[in-house]
Amino acid sequence: MDKVIIKGGNKLIGEVNISGFKNAALPIIIGTVLSSDKCRIENLPMISDVSNLAKIMKMIGADVYLDENGFMDIDTKNIQKCVLIDEITRKMRASYYLLGAGLSRFKEVEVLYPGGCDIGSRPIDQHIKGFEALGAKVEIKHGVIKCSADKLVGSKIYLDVVSVGATINIMMAATMAEGTTIIENAAKEPHIVDVANFINTMGGDIRGAGTDVIKINGVEKLHGCNYSVIPDQIEAGTYMIMAAATKGNLLIKNVIPVHLEPVTAKLREMGVEVIEYGDSIQVNGDFDLKSINIKTLPYPGFPTDLQQPMVALLSTVEGTSIVNETVSESRFKYIDELKRMGANISVDGNTAVVKGIYKLMGAEVRATDLRAGAALVIAGLMADGITEIREIQHIERGYEDLVSKLKKIGANVKKV
Ligand code: UD1
Repeated sequence: MDKVIIKGGNKLIGEVNISGFKNAALPIIIGTVLSSDKCRIENLPMISDVSNLAKIMKMIGADVYLDENGFMDIDTKNIQKCVLIDEITRKMRASYYLLGAGLSRFKEVEVLYPGGCDIGSRPIDQHIKGFEALGAKVEIKHGVIKCSADKLVGSKIYLDVVSVGATINIMMAATMAEGTTIIENAAKEPHIVDVANFINTMGGDIRGAGTDVIKINGVEKLHGCNYSVIPDQIEAGTYMIMAAATKGNLLIKNVIPVHLEPVTAKLREMGVEVIEYGDSIQVNGDFDLKSINIKTLPYPGFPTDLQQPMVALLSTVEGTSIVNETVSESRFKYIDELKRMGANISVDGNTAVVKGIYKLMGAEVRATDLRAGAALVIAGLMADGITEIREIQHIERGYEDLVSKLKKIGANVKKV
């Protein structure tokens, strides 16, 4: 098993280029199933979730070419039906987008229950509610989700929970339904807008993405297109936090600064200097930082995916920080790993009380999920001595070239 070994203490200084957004790239790649043409998807992050998804697309019958320069050519004309009963779906949550895309094009789809990070029970009742409202029959048997419909008809769907996955899946399912679908209490994340823009580039008619009411006018057919994925706001936010954690100074390039506002606001509140440019952000962390309180919320609130990296940073900030996790059910498992490094954090339900200590100490730790892995890398960069992080396959699901990007900005890090 590969490990990442970090000798802490170096300030991160220089420039880092942000890759395409995993959470937009995955539904967009699957969204190519909506048409029976060729698509080229560009600005893809070279991460294991993308290479695994290329395999999934081949397994359902698409012709796929994934180029190491970050684009994928996908021809979906030979897909006969959308059936994927294979353990590979457990490797990533996003495999469930096959439900919406497959239902829309073939009126029938079967997918093994999705996996992804172990951060709580992660139900999909809102997805199912949406498919049923459009006229589909949904059955779950022996871990396989089967959706079928004679035809899909537009409907009004109110989401009981603001869900990124349900919003995207229902948008996909409704693109070629008869009439108009309205999703109320929709998620507003930047990748919802990106997926809607992609579907519209294919000839779809989706309006209001980025607000909490999305209107989808069903069209008869979609066509192929070229589309470039937006930059990864979570990867960018992780490097922003790393700059602050190491008292470094980073120019973070290829970002959309407005997508990073929740992180920018919180870092500024701590005393970090953040300067926004057109498509880059400068973060200077060489100041005495103050403790803060954080509550994770759907966008534009503070992202749950950055809760873990932020707690790693707060673990050495003087004073007490209260972190309230309201989005994911159990996203504090990694805290036991931070404690091995000396962190003083107590967890009660969905709240973590972080008492800043002077220094973390290097230790052997385990990445319990993707963003937990990022948190441990941050902890390792700050710590005295050597930190050895195991189970880095989780980190490689979502961060392109993490080790080489870190080396370029001065980290003492290697993968063995
Ligand atoms: C996506 C992201 C993940 C991020 C999360 C929240 C991908 C591949 N993953 O996950 O990185 O942490 O958004 O920003 O894009 N819920 C229900 N019923 C449902 C659906 C969701 O109760 O049918 C609950 C979930 O348990 C969770 C909350 O709603 O508590 C948010 O989930 P959701 O936004 O759907 O997250 P994912 O799409 O799974």
